[in-house]
Amino acid sequence: MAYHSVIIGCGSYLPERVVENKELAATVDTSDEWIIERTGIHRRHIAADGETTCDLAHAAGLAALQNAGVRAEDLDLIVLATATPDHTFPATATQVQARLGMMKGAAFDVHAVCSGFIYALAVADNFLKAGQAKNALVIGAETFSRILDWKDRSTCVLFGDGAGAVLLQRQDGAADVGSPGVISTHLHSDGRYKDHLYVDGGPSSTQSTGYLRMAGREVFKHAVTNLASVVNEALESNNVSADQIDWVVPHQANQRILDATARKLKLDPARVISTVANHANTSAASVPLALSTAVGDGRIKRGQLLILEAMGGGFTWGSSLVRW
Ligand code: ACO
Repeated sequence: MAYHSVIIGCGSYLPERVVENKELAATVDTSDEWIIERTGIHRRHIAADGETTCDLAHAAGLAALQNAGVRAEDLDLIVLATATPDHTFPATATQVQARLGMMKGAAFDVHAVCSGFIYALAVADNFLKAGQAKNALVIGAETFSRILDWKDRSTCVLFGDGAGAVLLQRQDGAADVGSPGVISTHLHSDGRYKDHLYVDGGPSSTQSTGYLRMAGREVFKHAVTNLASVVNEALESNNVSADQIDWVVPHQANQRILDATARKLKLDPARVISTVANHANTSAASVPLALSTAVGDGRIKRGQLLILEAMGGGFTWGSSLVRW
């Protein structure tokens, strides 16, 4: 029996506290104008003291369950993408599972930094296609504020905290570009570029959490090339042309990356969902957060064709073609 998966609901959660660029300019040598001009970011949400990735993931997961009309006890899979887990172990996904009151199935974390949600979606989609699960909660959740060096102006202005989630349900028959569902996923990684974007700590290397380090210009260049290439890969492998895409739902790293990628792909910028101004870069949470925002405000409608894409540390990058 062939199966495919359909996204039947989505949800998101943002911490209450909003930090405007001006507030950062009071502590590091930067300005509202510089941040807006170079990144398009105006503000970001920052988790409260004691508020963890699990809290954010749980809230977004609950919102997706409610939106889908599925009960937690009907879930049999949670895949949580995060680079900022509550603990080295157990996986944050298992703590979300416990809080949701889900007693069966499997829950685990996937780690691909900013591409994490696309990786988690691909993993869950393949579990469902293999018939190994029926209802999967796929979450991207991060508290990047905890791994930022707040004295480093070249990185601390770029990121925010948040979570987004989708409910993936198995349905009979193979995926088809004309029907709702996850049509395809394409994933890539290239570990040679670790030094361009990494955290300088970890349990096995330094026995500390460490801080995010980045060569911004290098990352920028690779991001535009890799994102354009993995979007083209999705289009070509499904025989879909760029003008058939209703919405691009990209990883929200920087408005200039969104614009440059759209230009390279000859995509109308008006069809690119952008939430980076209000959320900044929330890593694995950014794609499901952007998706939930655009579904919530009515831009994304049932039946439309979406391309999801992301690129992050590793490097990792990926895309998914979805009929909403
Ligand atoms: N405020 C003011 N000045 C700053 C700041 C700041 N916050 N940060 C850096 N500068 C300064 C630099 O020190 C430098 O000064 P100098 O010329 O005197 O040395 C100057 O601004 C230019 O720095 P660049 O790094 O060359 O600036 P650039 O135009 O490349 O913009 C940025 C930097 C925004 C980081 C850009 O490279 C970028 O967006 N890169 C992509 C990185 C990214 O999004 N990473 C996220 C994770 S990966 C992903 O999600 C795809």
